[in-house]
Amino acid sequence: MANSSLPDRIRRDFPILEREVHGKPLVYLDNAASAQKPLAVIEGQREYLSNYHANIHRGAHQLAQLATEAFEGGRRKVAEHIGAPNAAEVIFTAGSTDAVNLVAQSWGRANLSQGDVVLVTRMEHHANIVPWQMICEAVGAKVEPVNVHEDGTLDLGDFHAALERFSPKMVAFVHASNTLGTINPVADLCRAASDAGALTLVDGSQALPHLTIDVKAIGCDFYVATAHKAYGPTGIGFLWGRRAILEAMPPWRGGGEMIQSVSFDGTTYNTLPHKFEAGTPHISGGIAFGLAIDWMRGVGVETIAAHERSLVAYAHNALETLKGVRIIGTAPEKVGVVSLVVDGIHPYDLGTLMDGQGVAVRTGHHCTEPLMHHLGLESGTLRMSFAAYTTPREIDVAAAALARALAMLR
Ligand SMILES: Cc1ncc(COP(=O)(O)O)c(C=O)c1O
Repeated sequence: MANSSLPDRIRRDFPILEREVHGKPLVYLDNAASAQKPLAVIEGQREYLSNYHANIHRGAHQLAQLATEAFEGGRRKVAEHIGAPNAAEVIFTAGSTDAVNLVAQSWGRANLSQGDVVLVTRMEHHANIVPWQMICEAVGAKVEPVNVHEDGTLDLGDFHAALERFSPKMVAFVHASNTLGTINPVADLCRAASDAGALTLVDGSQALPHLTIDVKAIGCDFYVATAHKAYGPTGIGFLWGRRAILEAMPPWRGGGEMIQSVSFDGTTYNTLPHKFEAGTPHISGGIAFGLAIDWMRGVGVETIAAHERSLVAYAHNALETLKGVRIIGTAPEKVGVVSLVVDGIHPYDLGTLMDGQGVAVRTGHHCTEPLMHHLGLESGTLRMSFAAYTTPREIDVAAAALARALAMLR
């Protein structure tokens, strides 16, 4: 039985949760798309913009030093949080999408060639498919997908068979699925891929807000995630990579900051992480990303994970009793994501009617079109996704709103 002691303690940190929509109290269940921000994150950005904004790294003056220290402090917090051996291995990017593109364009262009294979899974977000397709198309390589079972778990037999069949150069997979909630056995997958001679990239976008992450224990070569799903700001995320691999990779974007020296006879490049951070970065974002991590650690990632596990069980029970509702994604290990369909009713119609009752959910393919196609769900799903502040009572309200929407449409 889910309880609400964690939300009771932390909801006041989130001013937006006080608001109404359409004259009803907001029930925000779209956290997998983007989580709301605690006051520490909001205030931290305001404080930087009001008191010590300046461009970083190059300035001789005090404001530049303060801003640089706060931004690099954000990087150190990310590094510590994911168990990275060194903060220089954490490259700030615009998000997960940008991070996968960085690896595809830099590592991929240098290491993939005609006939090579990049192995992904059918449960990937488009962000972990399309960048690979683009580089593969450019160099004559191919993207191959691993199957997903009906219950939303990865087909491990197909995974191992694909390693054997394709000898891929890169194996890229999601830590936790944004559509199904499935948590993949990432350490086992990395071990098998690396035994087969491949590098691995784990898309941790949905893991960062819900799970303890240790890149050393996972054993991956690259790990990417995005701040805004983990209580931080939009427009910032990170790529973590093993130092030797990052050092061997050519820069991707060129410009200021990523160089050591520039001349028309030849340019040399900066050391890590700056080699991959051309131009002025999202300074307030880096600072606030660190504050979001402080907030999560203050609450306790394990506490958040346990709360969300109980919410998932509670939501499955509450929703399964509604006539015609079919839950999509029933893997034993899930993050706080519950997708559902109702035969004969379009998810968008349900979502719109729920919005009118104050309940924010997401409908559609959730940027996982190949997965929807594989599962025969061409209209997509209705997805409720939870955060540390979600209460069982909000799930009751959402289930009642869904029941009312169903009654209107039948
Ligand atoms: C699993 C997964 N990967 C990647 C992304 C892309 O994240 P961003 O849009 O912040 O780059 C998302 C966002 O929905 C996601 O859920």
